Amino acid sequence: MEKISITIDGYSLEVDPGKSILNAALEADLYIPHLCHHPDLPDVGECRLCVVEIEGGGEIRTSCKTQVEDGMVIHTKTEKLNAMRRLSMELMLANHVDDCTTCPKYLKCELQSLIQYLEVSTSRLRRTLNSVPVNTSNPLFVRDLNRCVSCGRCVRACKELRGVDVLDYQMTEDDRVMVDIKNHHSMEEEHCRFCGACVEVCPTGALQDKEGVLKPNLNWDLELVPCKAECPAHTDVPRYIRAIKEGRYQDAIAIIREKAPFPHSLGYVCMAFCESVCRRKEINQSLSIRELKKFAADKDEGLWRERANFKPKTGKRVAVIGSGPAGLTAAYYLTKLGHEVTVFERLPVAGGMLTTGIPKYRLPREAVQEEISEIIRAGVTILTNTPIESLTDLKAKGFDKILLAVGAGKGNRLPIEGADYNNVYENIDFLKGVSLGSSELVGDRVVVLGGGNVAFDCARSAIRLGAKEVVIACLETREAMTASEDEILEGLKEGVKLLNGRTFLRIEGLNDKGTGVRCQEVSSFTFDESGKLQLILKPDSEHVIKADTIIFAAGQKPEIPQDWDVPVKRGNLIATENEIKVIGRNDLFAAGDAVYGTHSVIQAIAAGRKAASVIGQELNGDGDIEDKLTNDVIPSQYLGREEGFLEANRNECMDDCYNDSSACGEAGRCLQCDLRTQITRPKLWIHYKIK
Ligand code: FES
Repeated sequence: MEKISITIDGYSLEVDPGKSILNAALEADLYIPHLCHHPDLPDVGECRLCVVEIEGGGEIRTSCKTQVEDGMVIHTKTEKLNAMRRLSMELMLANHVDDCTTCPKYLKCELQSLIQYLEVSTSRLRRTLNSVPVNTSNPLFVRDLNRCVSCGRCVRACKELRGVDVLDYQMTEDDRVMVDIKNHHSMEEEHCRFCGACVEVCPTGALQDKEGVLKPNLNWDLELVPCKAECPAHTDVPRYIRAIKEGRYQDAIAIIREKAPFPHSLGYVCMAFCESVCRRKEINQSLSIRELKKFAADKDEGLWRERANFKPKTGKRVAVIGSGPAGLTAAYYLTKLGHEVTVFERLPVAGGMLTTGIPKYRLPREAVQEEISEIIRAGVTILTNTPIESLTDLKAKGFDKILLAVGAGKGNRLPIEGADYNNVYENIDFLKGVSLGSSELVGDRVVVLGGGNVAFDCARSAIRLGAKEVVIACLETREAMTASEDEILEGLKEGVKLLNGRTFLRIEGLNDKGTGVRCQEVSSFTFDESGKLQLILKPDSEHVIKADTIIFAAGQKPEIPQDWDVPVKRGNLIATENEIKVIGRNDLFAAGDAVYGTHSVIQAIAAGRKAASVIGQELNGDGDIEDKLTNDVIPSQYLGREEGFLEANRNECMDDCYNDSSACGEAGRCLQCDLRTQITRPKLWIHYKIK
């Protein structure tokens, strides 16, 4: 297209015809004051701050609504224009509260910035201080109309950008025009989609996110998208949810795989931190993100493989000790960075907690095996039944770097009498035994001591092994138990009995065999300054819980062989810098539970990714492990009105997994918080070159 020539304040510009004068100026980094204009919205010429004078007639026009014409000579900063702008501002501010310092948008407000630029004296303003109550009645946003200047950006964003059309100008009882929900309804009644576009484009503090809804101090695209921010691996949740909704299943699995090589396993056992912060839960229930992930993983046809980025071979060798999710994730990404990676596993099977910790009924082994096979296909060598006795010997085999990803594989036994009877197990050993097929682990009566998720894994496994009576006894009250509510409810449903508020005095027994746990009831407990447990016991409450099998589920710690000579800290955790580099060593790294204690699978995966990146850099590479496994599909900004959208309840996926239609329905409940990150953030005058 042939350009045309214009002059703005003496600057000659070549611009595309059809553009507004305002856009032509702003694109040339030349500031003209404006407020109702927003780069993503149609212009309406409402605020009249963008007025300019065009030579040849001295006409004054709003520059946002006036197209450039060849040869135009435009002035933007004459005295007359400034006076007009100041008047427009004063009119706008007439109903605006003057307590900027209490506004959440203070120092980030476009209006405040304009007041400063135009040197409008706020003290001169005559105010009609009929304050309107701040509306906090909806679950996500605060509407403070006392800060509204009726620029109408929110109305246009809702109507034109999103096609939802919830907002409009409304007449108040005292004849003021204000932006409000249509028909003076609630946002819910008008089928708001809670996308946040109105809040995003509001130039003042009139529309705000409720406190606590956003996560401050993060990158912009994380702050607005809590599910992605909360996921330790920052999986792009809204992007794969949208792909599922649109039936692009191969895109969905590729997006998940951009951050984690265990999508299927995660679909079964992820702790789903994303769901706990999903904004949809403020409306009714959070999205069923983990189940949708499992659905996508079930559909995986491996098309993403073609796009997986494998860098040229570097000739460098890395040893990874431990084949749990942290170790295998690190091994996978290090292989993609071009290094030769060998994983050493002391057990007969690879997978760590995925195969020997988490019970089969929660995580089918085929899902894990398939994912491990994929890692092997990528080029990782896994040696099972291969314990490492000496790091020095291992290093001598020609490894440039060693990563310790040994997990927290040693259970804690409480120091009470009888703890070493031969029918007393530690949680990890018990679960490992179950996973590896040891039979006869349990008798008829099983008592598990502890109140976390692992206690339930042990108890529910014992039921599956044929135990007739399974009791979980723990110090905490039912409400204070650390196990997830789901686990507790499932356990109770399966017949696990709970005994809360118990302290354990000793294990009673005969001939090396425990016969019961002597307990006492606890009224309350605290920890003193040194972290020591202080109990208040109920008098005369001693009793024995009879047992044929007793399992300690009182936490785990890493098992670090003495000969490794690795610095450890409290809890036998490996001492590291930045949770990766073993202190005092250049060739030794550590990741996962062995560094920070028992956590989730997704945290281990995130730790493995970080380890791969850091080790990659230490091996003189860029450590860039980011993958782009599918084409970007630019999401539509248009949402449209959808009756029933807010009422749609979470589909709990009763038949174990979704089908195409129920998955699409559940994905359709997403508020698509990420669409807001695509809205342009207007620059303030201070950021323009020519002001
Ligand atoms: Fe042009 Fe408001 S920006 S009238």
